[in-house]
Amino acid sequence: MSSATAMTTEPMPKPEGLEGVVAASTALSHVFGEEGRLVYRGYDIHELAGKASFEEVAHLLWQGRLPTRPELDDLLHRLGENRELPEPVVATLSALPADTEPMDALRTGVSALGAAHGDLFDDTPDLAEAIALAARVPTILATFFRLRQGKEPVPPRPDLNTAQSYLYQLLGTEPEPRHWQPLEVYLVLLTDHGMNASTFTARVIASTQSDLCSAITGAVGALKGPLHGGAPSKVLDMLNEIGTVDNVEAWLTRALDEGRRLMGFGHRVYKAEDPRAEILRGMAERASDPAFFALSKTTEERALALLEERKPGRRLYTNVEFYSAAVLAAVGLPGDMFTPTFAVARSVGWSAHVLEQVANNRLIRPQSEFVGPTDKRFVPIEDR
Ligand code: ACO
Repeated sequence: MSSATAMTTEPMPKPEGLEGVVAASTALSHVFGEEGRLVYRGYDIHELAGKASFEEVAHLLWQGRLPTRPELDDLLHRLGENRELPEPVVATLSALPADTEPMDALRTGVSALGAAHGDLFDDTPDLAEAIALAARVPTILATFFRLRQGKEPVPPRPDLNTAQSYLYQLLGTEPEPRHWQPLEVYLVLLTDHGMNASTFTARVIASTQSDLCSAITGAVGALKGPLHGGAPSKVLDMLNEIGTVDNVEAWLTRALDEGRRLMGFGHRVYKAEDPRAEILRGMAERASDPAFFALSKTTEERALALLEERKPGRRLYTNVEFYSAAVLAAVGLPGDMFTPTFAVARSVGWSAHVLEQVANNRLIRPQSEFVGPTDKRFVPIEDR
């Protein structure tokens, strides 16, 4: 076989997990893995965290630049007036068993929203749809959170921003600045993150000319896995199991001896500290209970040392999920609402990617390397 023939018939080398493969062009955000930098449309995350509101960042991602004051007021107004759920979505959420995982409820709720609001979400996805969906994601979660406790859902308040409204609808009390402000910084940090698994999922679905709710339903499904967004509640479980600073070394050693992964460490792209982890660590120190922060810090230090010892050269650092656990717990959220709260932030990033995909679409349809046999003969069932 000539090398020219081989070029056309042989599959290209296949990186495991598509590592290093460039799957799309995007101007939205980028992870500079070697440097440990995250950039949203030209702004380093340190430029935005603690300075820009979540809605300013949403405008930045959806529309390409930070808003003027009237533009921000308009976006806040549009989000505020889009928070209510259609009755069939509330009915669907109330039909779920109370022990349903909130991420499963969110996936179901977004899918039900697409069915119940076919009028709103049946076109090519656009900015109005992105706003309509991002506004309703917190309401879906808060509605399910209340229903599973046998409580009435709290109607949204259009005068509140996203972080305030989400806490208000979850807890039914006026949100306190010491809770909603760290939550808002968390939402800003988690809004977008390059071509991560759930964003890629959303773009693949959008590339088939499917609708926005389908793309976000798929993205929610991808986010819930523990190798992606499902880790922070597991970080909390790990810290609760460790219990005391004295037990850190023994617990981590046993987990690694058993071949388990330490939740909140390692990343496919970052080969330096995740900049979001650095910001969240500072927030956790300020917001969380001092004993819990001390346990988190000791666990982090010992985990990094043990990972370096056990996996030399792998460059495993703290990822965003580790201190998300402490920050979200300090905000008053239970562990099983951590990943759903990640989805509140990421629903903006996902929809921005969907808009970018449809603006310059080509069906995403990769090849596979076929490794099965090709010469089998059919045998009738009675002869097998
Ligand atoms: N604990 C122990 N060992 C680890 C960890 C960890 N957290 N992370 C990676 N390793 C080891 C692997 O066992 C592997 O070792 P080996 O080659 O000797 O088998 C090596 O480091 C490389 O790991 P890969 O799985 O190839 O790296 P990948 O890029 O696929 O993994 C991932 C990235 C999935 C995040 C991984 O680090 C992990 O499982 N971390 C724990 C879960 C977690 O924190 N998830 C949240 C990610 S952040 C986010 O998505 C928002």
